[in-house]
Formats: sequence, structure tokens, C-alpha cells
Amino acid sequence: MRITFCSPSARPGPWLEGLRAALPGATVEAWEPGASVADHAVVWTPPQQLFDEQPQLKGIFNLGAGVDALLRLRLPAGAVVVRIDDGGMAVQMAEYVSYWVIRWFREFDAFGAEIARSRWTFRKPLQHADFPVGVMGLGVLGARVARTIAQFDFPVLGWSRTPKDLPGVRNFAGAQQFDEFLAATRILVCLLPLTSETRDIIDARTLGRLQPGGYVINVARGSHVVDQDLIALLDSGHLAGAALDVFRTEPLPAEHPFWNHPKITITPHMSARTLREESIAQIAGKIRALERGEPVAGVVDPNRGY
Ligand SMILES: NC(=O)c1ccc[n+]([C@@H]2O[C@H](COP(=O)([O-])OP(=O)(O)OC[C@H]3O[C@@H](n4cnc5c(N)ncnc54)[C@H](OP(=O)(O)O)[C@@H]3O)[C@@H](O)[C@H]2O)c1
Repeated sequence: MRITFCSPSARPGPWLEGLRAALPGATVEAWEPGASVADHAVVWTPPQQLFDEQPQLKGIFNLGAGVDALLRLRLPAGAVVVRIDDGGMAVQMAEYVSYWVIRWFREFDAFGAEIARSRWTFRKPLQHADFPVGVMGLGVLGARVARTIAQFDFPVLGWSRTPKDLPGVRNFAGAQQFDEFLAATRILVCLLPLTSETRDIIDARTLGRLQPGGYVINVARGSHVVDQDLIALLDSGHLAGAALDVFRTEPLPAEHPFWNHPKITITPHMSARTLREESIAQIAGKIRALERGEPVAGVVDPNRGY
């Protein structure tokens, strides 16, 4: 069995060593133009040329949860596309979202500003009931986030394409229940995949339907958010703040207004990183299962877009 590896942003050495150790007997090599034909490809943002030269591929393993960039390429018709499911990312997302929800709810910024002026102040505690958290996308990552936030006693709502029954979460599904979900939400968390249905979904209409004093946490893809609509709703006072980890263009261009907006905090696409050891173990397990003809988790439906 031959595996080709291509991730222009990663140092290939440790990945190749890890995959060789996890798949004894397999030939694992870094892809380069004209490389020998492989059975499976392990990739992150590969060039179109890889797939043009390797039409025989049986499996394409994406080194991340989001496959929007991969699905924009022309992929071999017979190849199954598999993404990382969780692989240590769910707990990172739960940490990132909890951090923001708690920072806003416990007013750490307001206390910090007083402490910076050497002032010992009292603030009346806020009520969990006034901070309902709505999670868009209840997949591997969104479900973990919803569960975690519910443990802090916040009311939690979830919205997905198909109906779910997550304990402790008020579940909404489909376009027909979207407005009801938004009206019950104050802190909106985006963990949707980027598809033709979800692009630009966080626009003026969506944001305007959130409860007043709302917040946005986008940890999915930058193209879910209409940047100028978010800024307008923050400036109007309808929204109180936003934490953004992902952007339409990354790195975020130096002149982009998000950098210096007083109500926006940005992070450089770090909310949930692909962890090498966990990912190698997961991919190796899935390659072995596919070779045995067994089903694997995390198979992408190209028509659905995730
Ligand atoms: N910032 C980062 O560092 C980072 C890291 C990893 C992932 N991500 C992003 O997080 C996304 C989610 O990852 P995941 O592993 O949780 O994905 P997933 O398991 O595929 O879950 C996707 C969820 O979104 C829902 N959904 C899809 N289309 C929808 C629509 N049109 N309307 C309503 N709900 C819809 C799905 O509904 P159903 O359950 O009904 O199918 C599912 O609940 C990835 O696609 C990626 O873009 C970001």
C-alpha cells in the first residue's frame, strides 16, 4: 500500500515518520509533481495537480474537520473523502467558547479596567438565565461545545440541519426553526461547515434577530460572517461584542477594521488545532478499516458539502 502526504503548511518529516510507524508495511512518501501512484492521500490544502496526477486514489484524508477548501478542487471520482472527526479538536473548541462566554458573563473586562485604576469595585452578579447560548451546528464540535456550556448552567440552544435530541440543549432544526432559535439566543456560536447554504449566514438579518446586547463567537469559517453587517450591528449597540477566530482572508489583512474595533477580539485561527499524534492515529485506523472494506466515521458527502 502506498500513501502520499501533502500539506504545504506543515513540516513533512514528523508526519511521514508518524504515518510510517502507524502503518508498518505501507510506503509513505511526501507528494511531489510526478510522484508514483498511491492508494491514499493525506492532505491539507493540496494543489489541484495532485488529484489530476492521481485519479486512482481510493481515499483522501483531510487533515482538518472542514472540507470546504478540498471540495473546491476536482477530486478523483472513485475516492472516498474522509475528514478528521474530533481528533482532540472538540475539547479545544469547548475551551475556547467557554472562555469567551465566561469572560463576558463574569464581566472580567469591566473588573480588569477598574483594577487597572487601582479600584476595588462591586458589581451585581448577572443571571445565567439572561445569557442563553445558541450553537449553530451540532456536529462533532458543536455538540461538545453545547454540552460543556450547559454544565455552567447557561440555557443552551442548538441548531442543526436535521433534528437532534441532545440532553440539556433546546434543539432547533432547519430553515423553518432558524428565527425561533435566534430569538431565544443572546450569545451566538458558529460551528457550521462552510457550504452553499451556510455562506454569509451571519448577516444583518440574522444578527438583528438575536437578543439585544448579543455576542458572536465565530470559530467555523470567516465566510459565514458578513463583515460589514457585524460591524454595523456592533456600532448600533444591538451587539455587545464578538470573538472571531476565522476570517474571509487569512492572515487577516493589516487594513481590516476587525483589528482595531473596540468590541471585537480576534485570534489567529487557533481555536482548535489539528493535533499530529491524534490525527495520525485516527487516519491510520481509518486507512486500515477502509482496506478491510469496513465503514469509517467522518466520511464526507460531497453533495451535502460536509
Ligand atoms: N477554527 C478552527 O480552528 C476550526 C477547527 C476545526 C473545525 N472548524 C470548523 O468547524 C466546522 C464544524 O466541524 P464539525 O466537525 O463539528 O462538523 P460536523 O460534525 O460535520 O457538523 C456540522 C454540523 O452543522 C450542521 N449543519 C450543516 N449544514 C447546516 C445547515 N444548512 N443548517 C443547519 N445546520 C447545518 C450539521 O447538521 P446535521 O447534524 O443535521 O448534519 C451538523 O450538526 C468545520 O466544518 C470547520 O469549518 C474550525
